[in-house]
Amino acid sequence: MKITHSRKVVAAAAILAALACAASADDKSKSKNPVLSSKEAVEQRRAAFNLVGKSFKPIGGILKGEVDYNSVDVVELANRLVFLNGFLHGTFPEDSNVGEPQSKAKAEIWKDKEDFKKRLKEFRANTENLLAVAERDKAPSSAFKEAAQKVAQDCKGCHDNYKLK
Ligand code: HEC
Repeated sequence: MKITHSRKVVAAAAILAALACAASADDKSKSKNPVLSSKEAVEQRRAAFNLVGKSFKPIGGILKGEVDYNSVDVVELANRLVFLNGFLHGTFPEDSNVGEPQSKAKAEIWKDKEDFKKRLKEFRANTENLLAVAERDKAPSSAFKEAAQKVAQDCKGCHDNYKLK
């Protein structure tokens, strides 16, 4: 009796799992994104940007003269920025224009799609450049400062246009 009962439970769990799978597959097809539902997309981009903020902060501090270059591992921070860029890919599907309080992404993102895409691409390229310069110079050289400044401008430029305060 006991065995039959637990088999039933297992079978029910399997059915539920299959249903959950089907439901989420349906969710995902709506977002026109093969990987993320709209909710997942918002969560992932916010998580990625949150860590982008934490990773860039010391570099911004170096630019302002508030942080000593040698007190932080700049190559590691730049590495993280490049790595985190990968997580942003595909996180702005059409149906993730959900507004506040879930998201601070402005509706303009989905109006000026090409411009926003271009900014994301440049952001990625500029973080890759920052990493290359940091690995080469290993010092707060003028090339490093220029590369870091470019990334800082990417943050500010995009936020001014596409992020709610
Ligand atoms: C191409 C546009 C773009 C670039 C470049 C960009 N951001 Fe953002 N950022 C956004 C958008 C849009 C949001 C709001 C996302 C949301 O709430 O759905 C955001 C959100 C954030 C957040 C809040 C994350 C959270 O916890 O919700 C932080 C912190 C942040 N960005 C830091 C940065 C920093 C630092 C840089 C540069 C190193 C940067 N961003 C570059 C567009 C950008």
